Amino acid sequence: MTKLFTTLFVLAVASATAHAQAPAAPAQGPAAQAQGAAAAPGGAKSIEAKVAMCIGCHGIKGYQASFPEVYKVPMISGQSARYIAAALTAYKTGDRKHPTMRGISDTLSEQDINDIAAYYEQHGKGQTKVTDKPSREPSAPVAALLQKAACVSCHGANFSKPIDPSYPKIAGQHSDYLYVALKAYKTQNNPTVGRNNGVMGAIAQQFSNAELKAMSNYLGSLQGELVTQPENRFR
Ligand code: HEC
Ligand code: HEC
Repeated sequence: MTKLFTTLFVLAVASATAHAQAPAAPAQGPAAQAQGAAAAPGGAKSIEAKVAMCIGCHGIKGYQASFPEVYKVPMISGQSARYIAAALTAYKTGDRKHPTMRGISDTLSEQDINDIAAYYEQHGKGQTKVTDKPSREPSAPVAALLQKAACVSCHGANFSKPIDPSYPKIAGQHSDYLYVALKAYKTQNNPTVGRNNGVMGAIAQQFSNAELKAMSNYLGSLQGELVTQPENRFR
């Protein structure tokens, strides 16, 4: 019951946000989901219906979240599908504690997660080009921090080509979001903030918040493959 309530609440918030932020694109939120579901062949929910709810936050340029602090919601268009699926699953299982994304992931089946992940990997593709080297060099102190935990060994030399598709592309992601994410890996024993991840937990703990912020600012300033794709024209 509590779970159902949370889900409904999240849906209500998400649709209110969508309408408040994007009056020009009314086909969003649960109403649009219902329409999409009806239109899909064989009664299966269409991909348009599955992502309708996401657009209200992830499809609006500069859209900010205010929990646990103010930061821009992450870009997910152009992110790799395996990572998107891993992240959504982590919210669903509670390894990632962000309450809104937990509530949303709870409503998604495994099939939904896989469909949505595949969709966002392709969404906005080709708008940006990255070179093998990062688009700018870090300052000497930031270079030393990146070196200390060998960030490139997993996230790739340009931070857009991770060694495994379940690892995120981080180049050009919003730096305020990267900072919130890195701090979350350090946060433990908090019911609503934190990320439980063996790999990044051990890494983030080696750094002060000021150091995490310096790295986030650098990574966010790079050219990357992630975009916010506001367009809501489905064929
Ligand atoms: C009410 C606003 C809102 C809505 C609606 C929303 N999200 Fe999110 N999303 C966020 C915020 C804020 C975060 C950052 C959470 C955190 O700090 O972990 C996030 C994080 C994510 C992440 C993790 C990104 C990363 O780089 O790790 C993914 C993937 C994601 N959302 C996918 C979705 C999908 C798919 C939907 C629709 C089914 C959706 N979101 C709907 C606000 C929203
Ligand atoms: C051993 C491999 C490895 C190394 C080294 C590594 N990372 Fe990660 N990183 C990962 C994985 C795997 C994830 C996804 C964790 C999850 O699912 O939450 C991740 C996630 C992240 C995220 C969250 C991105 C998002 O969209 O939410 C950031 C930011 C990040 N890493 C930055 C760094 C930085 C900065 C360094 C160096 C100080 C670093 N990583 C070193 C593997 C690594």
